[in-house]
Amino acid sequence: MLTLIKNGYVIDPASGREGRYDVLIDGERISRVEADISEEVLQQQAKETGEQLDVIDAVNQYVMPGFIDLHVHLREPGFEYKETIATGAKAAAAGGWTTICPMPNTRPATDSADMIRLVLSRAEQEAAVNILPVGAVTLGQAGSELVNIKELKAAGAVALSEDGKSVMDTALYMEAMRQAAYYQIPIFAHCEDKSLVGTGVINAGKKAKELGLIGISNAVEDIITARDILMAKESGVQLHLCHISTRDSAKMLALAKEEGLPITGEVCPHHFTLSEEDITSVDSNYKMNPPLRKPEDVEALKKALQEDVIDVIATDHAPHSAEEKAKSMGEAPFGIVGSETAFALVITELIEKGYLTPTQMVEKMSLNPARILGIDRGSIDVGMVADLVIADPTAEYTIDKNSFYSKGKNTPFHGRKVRGRIISTFVAGRRVYHKQA
Ligand code: DOR
Ligand code: ZN
Ligand code: ZN
Repeated sequence: MLTLIKNGYVIDPASGREGRYDVLIDGERISRVEADISEEVLQQQAKETGEQLDVIDAVNQYVMPGFIDLHVHLREPGFEYKETIATGAKAAAAGGWTTICPMPNTRPATDSADMIRLVLSRAEQEAAVNILPVGAVTLGQAGSELVNIKELKAAGAVALSEDGKSVMDTALYMEAMRQAAYYQIPIFAHCEDKSLVGTGVINAGKKAKELGLIGISNAVEDIITARDILMAKESGVQLHLCHISTRDSAKMLALAKEEGLPITGEVCPHHFTLSEEDITSVDSNYKMNPPLRKPEDVEALKKALQEDVIDVIATDHAPHSAEEKAKSMGEAPFGIVGSETAFALVITELIEKGYLTPTQMVEKMSLNPARILGIDRGSIDVGMVADLVIADPTAEYTIDKNSFYSKGKNTPFHGRKVRGRIISTFVAGRRVYHKQA
């Protein structure tokens, strides 16, 4: 099967291409990227060989390597009422993500080779996109006993993370980092000081006071960011800082990079789009961990993205049921969905406002995540697997949570006007999502 994508605006930082190109997919791979690939010649060829040829007109649309989300929660096994591997993968495809990394906080947690294999086999059978699981750092994410890192890696874990919390036992975490460095598997760090966070709900600031809620200070995150960077330096592990939300954590990442340490960081769309000031009512769709911070933090995150201090945009897609999120701010679980709104928020908040170029967007949503994972993805050059996304960067619409493929409708962006729409998503040459007109 051949698919010819005509007239699109190709953005491929790995090859340095940005401009109008035609792209030909032959089976699972990209076979040609040229200024003008003749449809007539291909038609003739297809007729002779009996091969099927699909032609897609992508005029005025971006053609990019498929996005790679280093941070999602798929909830299977254990919490299938929130999301399953199948529904989470569909939501990802609709958002332009062709590879996603589910975090281990399922039930049971992804803390053994068997659990990794279970996720991979279900993904193989049911998922529309590539699923690369993240293993836990400690058994049951209980914080007291290390997983078998060698076995997890051999089974297919691409990273280790205690996401949802931090490993608070520093000595144990240091041992994990040393082993992870030895087995060459990165650690994705959720930075949160458990003793300091207490029962905090939203950012410690004006809003928390106004609403009478317990606050979460920046120090809750920054203390562990500092610790984890220092530990990575000593252990030599490849460290990736999840969902950076504070200006000081961004600064510390910049310092770590200046030293040449193999440390990267991600920011989530909600953290560069919203601040605590956007929390207008006691609506738990504004409750996530880390929380929405002050406008100064939001500005610092956007600058850090612009200056390439922050390497990655990931969603922390965290589906919960309507019943759970209908609870009070204090009682509802942390987290919002993000797979299906990320691209539009990047276009609307970062590209249109001049913080990022289209090339930087693709670096942060595809190429850099691929490099962090060490996978042969993140580019649509000749010979690469055809994981790619076609999107209309100017289409204007209103986000409607009822249109989500995700089971989770927990978003603070319902009703928000945005620009940027995913049109088609391809995984290994197969179209796994197409926007119905
Ligand atoms: O908001 C969040 N939700 N932050 C986390 O760290 C965990 C996640 C979840 O699993 O729901
Ligand atoms: Zn987290
Ligand atoms: Zn998370």
